[in-house]
Amino acid sequence: MPTILITGANRGIGLALARSYVKDGWRVLATSRKPDESLIQGAESLPLDLTDPDSIKALQQSLAGMPIDIVWNNAGVYLDKNQPLDQVDNQDWLRSFEINCIAPIRIAEALMENVRISERKVFAFTTSKMASLAGNGIGAYAYRSSKTALNMAVRCFAQDHKAQGINCLLLHPGHVRTDMGGPEGEIDLPTSITGMRNLVDRINPDYTADMDSGYFDYDGSNIPW
Ligand SMILES: NC(=O)c1ccc[n+]([C@@H]2O[C@H](COP(=O)([O-])OP(=O)(O)OC[C@H]3O[C@@H](n4cnc5c(N)ncnc54)[C@H](OP(=O)(O)O)[C@@H]3O)[C@@H](O)[C@H]2O)c1
Repeated sequence: MPTILITGANRGIGLALARSYVKDGWRVLATSRKPDESLIQGAESLPLDLTDPDSIKALQQSLAGMPIDIVWNNAGVYLDKNQPLDQVDNQDWLRSFEINCIAPIRIAEALMENVRISERKVFAFTTSKMASLAGNGIGAYAYRSSKTALNMAVRCFAQDHKAQGINCLLLHPGHVRTDMGGPEGEIDLPTSITGMRNLVDRINPDYTADMDSGYFDYDGSNIPW
């Protein structure tokens, strides 16, 4: 039975992802700040606060020796949504970097050995199309810059671990109707999950991700860096 760990699995895209993998018979490690077993029948709920290094360390220790096929860094924040630059608080900007960029890499670093000893050896990172330098839009300075930084950090991480057969994927889930995406989102959760899983699930020892084209939209198309 393959194993996946998903961060931010208590609501939105993370919850839908976790339920979808449980349905397909995977062992699912669902992390959240306040684990609640009743949210996802059949998953194992684990505590993880992305802003707390001790929490990442405790997760690492509790999972020592367990092969994890996919670690999906999904949790994230969009603290400056609809805020003009002069209203963006520096602390929120720094917190965006901490949660959207630094924590996913620290989690990947902490769980590297679990993924290395697994069959699939995949790290998936939920980024955003709003991080694209080529497709640069307006506003959302904190969110955009934190996700662009995530993209670069993931590329560094991928290069560092290429020789160990590690695959890193950066995925835009689409504009999804969640708390973050809002009711104006263009797609529903099943459409986003199905699209992203079509990319992530096909990675195996015989098919590796090419990081030069590793920044994907949920529909499988490449996003320009
Ligand atoms: N929805 C969209 O249209 C869209 C578009 C592009 C990219 N994305 C990305 O997709 C991912 C999921 O988004 P979503 O729409 O599902 O958002 P969401 O509904 O707002 O859910 C965000 C998740 O992240 C968790 N989280 C936030 N801060 C955390 C922390 N410090 N420690 C642990 N967990 C934390 C939340 O947990 P709590 O409940 O504890 O806060 C929640 O589970 C994010 O990375 C987001 O940037 C979303």
